[in-house]
Parts: sequence; C-alpha cells; structure tokens
Amino acid sequence: MSSTFGTLFRVTTFGESHGQGVGTVIDGCPPKMPLDETDIQPQLDRRRPAQSELTTPREEADRVAILSGVDNGITLGSPITLMVKNTDQRPADYRRMRLVPRPSHADYTYRMKYGIQALSGGGRASARETVGRVAAGAIAEKFLSERYAIEIVAWVSAVAAIEAPSPDLESLIRKDVDRSPVRCPDSPSAEKMQEAIIAAQKAGDSVGGIISCVCRNIPAGLGEPVFDKIEALLAQAMLSIPATKGIEIGSGFAGSRMRGSAHNDVFIKKGAQLGTKTNYSGGIQGGITNGETITFRVAFKPPATISLPQKTVDFEGNDTVLEAKGRHDPCVVPRAVAIVESMAALVLADLALRQKMRENETIR
Ligand SMILES: Cc1cc2nc3c(=O)[nH]c(=O)nc-3n(C[C@H](O)[C@H](O)[C@H](O)COP(=O)(O)O)c2cc1C
Repeated sequence: MSSTFGTLFRVTTFGESHGQGVGTVIDGCPPKMPLDETDIQPQLDRRRPAQSELTTPREEADRVAILSGVDNGITLGSPITLMVKNTDQRPADYRRMRLVPRPSHADYTYRMKYGIQALSGGGRASARETVGRVAAGAIAEKFLSERYAIEIVAWVSAVAAIEAPSPDLESLIRKDVDRSPVRCPDSPSAEKMQEAIIAAQKAGDSVGGIISCVCRNIPAGLGEPVFDKIEALLAQAMLSIPATKGIEIGSGFAGSRMRGSAHNDVFIKKGAQLGTKTNYSGGIQGGITNGETITFRVAFKPPATISLPQKTVDFEGNDTVLEAKGRHDPCVVPRAVAIVESMAALVLADLALRQKMRENETIR
C-alpha cells in the first residue's frame, strides 16, 4: 500500500480511523526552520470534525504532538513525526457494515484487495487519514511562505447545484473563507449552501460540492517534465483525497469549448520578467509554472454513508437493506478546504526543493 507522497519533501501518513491515532512522518524537511505545534494546529482545527452543524459530530480535538525532528523549536533536518490521538471511537456503529459493504464506499474494494479490512470505520479509507496530510501540509506551507512568500487559499465554490460567483483571486484570504461555516466567501451563496447541506442531512442523505484553490507568488520554473509535470502531480495529489471525482486546472473543461485566439494567454512585460494578460493556463505551461497564479478546482461526490435505507446485497450476495449508522458528514467540502490547501503545499514544497537541487547541480 502506498502511503508515501513526494520525492524530496517525502510524507508518509499512518493510522486507521478507529485505531489509537493518526499522523505522519516527513522526511526531507529542510533544517534550521523554526517550528512548533502552533504552526500546525490552526489547519488541523479547520479540518477537524464537529466544528459546526454542517459536519460529523464525532468529537475529536485533534491536538497535534511533534515526536521527532524538532529540537528547541528548530527543525533538525531529520524525520519529523507528528501524532494525533483518536479519542472518540465508536466501533459498535460499524457492526452491520462489517457484513454489508456500503454502496460507493471502500468496504468492498478493500476486502477484495487485502482479504481483510479494519474492523470499524473506514480504516485507511476514512477521512481521518487526511489528518497526517494536513499536519504535513502546514509545515510545507510554512517553508513555502518563509522562502518564497507563497500563499495558498482554497474555498468552497459550489455545493450541490449552488455555484458561488468567483471572488477576487488576488486578494482572497482565509479569513474571508472562514467567515461562514461552509467556507464560501460569498455570503448569499454560503447561506444557500448551508441550507442545502442541512436539508440533505435532515433527509438522511448527503450532497457533493466543488473546492476552488489559488496559489499565489509562485516562482516560474517549478515542475519536472515530463511525467512529474506540476499538473500531473496536482492531479495525483488532489485525486488521492477521499471522495474526489475530478480536477480542472485553469480553464479546465470549459477551455475545450474555446478557440485558441481567445484561449491563448498573451505575454506582457511584468517588472523584470514576462507575465500573461489572461490566465486560462492556470499558471502552468508545459507542466512548469510560468509565475502567474495557479488556479484549479476539485469535484467532491456526496459522501457514501447515508442513513436513508438502501436496497443492496451483503458480502455473501444476499439481498438486504442498509440504513447506515454512525456519525457522518452530510457534505465533505467545508472540512476538505484545508486538505486541498495542504496537498497543494506538499506538491509545491517538493517541486521547490527539486528545482533548488537543480540550481545547485554542480557536485564538488
Ligand atoms: C473531509 C472528508 C470527510 C469525509 N467524511 C465522510 C463521511 O462522514 N462518511 C462517508 O461515507 N464518507 C466520508 N468521506 C469520504 C470517504 O472517505 C470516501 O468516499 C471513501 O473513502 C471512498 O473513497 P472514494 O470516494 O474516493 O472512492 C469524507 C471525505 C473527506 C475528504
């Protein structure tokens, strides 16, 4: 099972949803960087369950502890281990689901692959696995912010059929995003989204959504042709988040309906470098950043575990009706904003280190 992501900034996540705890080991974080738990906790708080009526009520404080790789508040360059204890496990909620695979969850595929699965919860398929990614992403973000002044901001741009107008991509900050519990910076849309989530929850159902993301102050030249193009790595990073179904970079699928004359981003002089007048490329050309803002969006499906009765079959193939128990998210996007930002940070930190290595290529 591949639980490791990255080449130089290498992150391994560990832990199951209802086990002792979850976390990450980061190998390759540069030394001499100031770091303590307060750099990591804010993003974990934005991901944690039970943060509003729109999320699962599972009560997890998700307090992070740094177990290694940091001495006196300074990174040593050795592996950094981050751990979060699970405190609110309720394995009994999952008794029935051991016999009946949840439609569109990972119970059936894990059983087919390993012949065994975690006895409760989704094991590694649960969103609790993403605690490790968000903790590691916070460190990657700190590195990117200190070395390059890179800013990463994601927000909920759609829930079900409700689409919010685009905010100003150059000035949007996380404070604007966090003003509503649904994490949409446009207040009228945020209200409608909240209503849609609560209505689905009351009906025992769930809804999907879209998260958009911008990465600003990106130096030109990040991305490794040809198989590790930044587009390819962003797609891998985003589609590895549970419940994702699609990613669009820059103009995305809409670009396929345009003519080249309208879609081309013509060059203009911007300070000492070239920039582009428009940004349909989403800041990436030839798999390499061009210095413009990176823009992309990620589609999330409605979560699979719903309490409405579903006619299905058990693992033996017998007809049955599943009414899932347990505490579940009626919509994952409000909590997934921090996960998208974290995965973007992991891709950028890794590529920044790879580019730095190329710049220092002469070995003495
Ligand atoms: C933040 C977040 C919270 C999630 N919460 C739930 C949940 O409460 N119930 C559920 O069935 N799926 C939830 N999921 C999605 C499942 O983890 C995911 O659908 C499952 O692992 C199957 O994988 P797939 O949807 O990528 O195929 C959540 C995903 C994220 C990102």
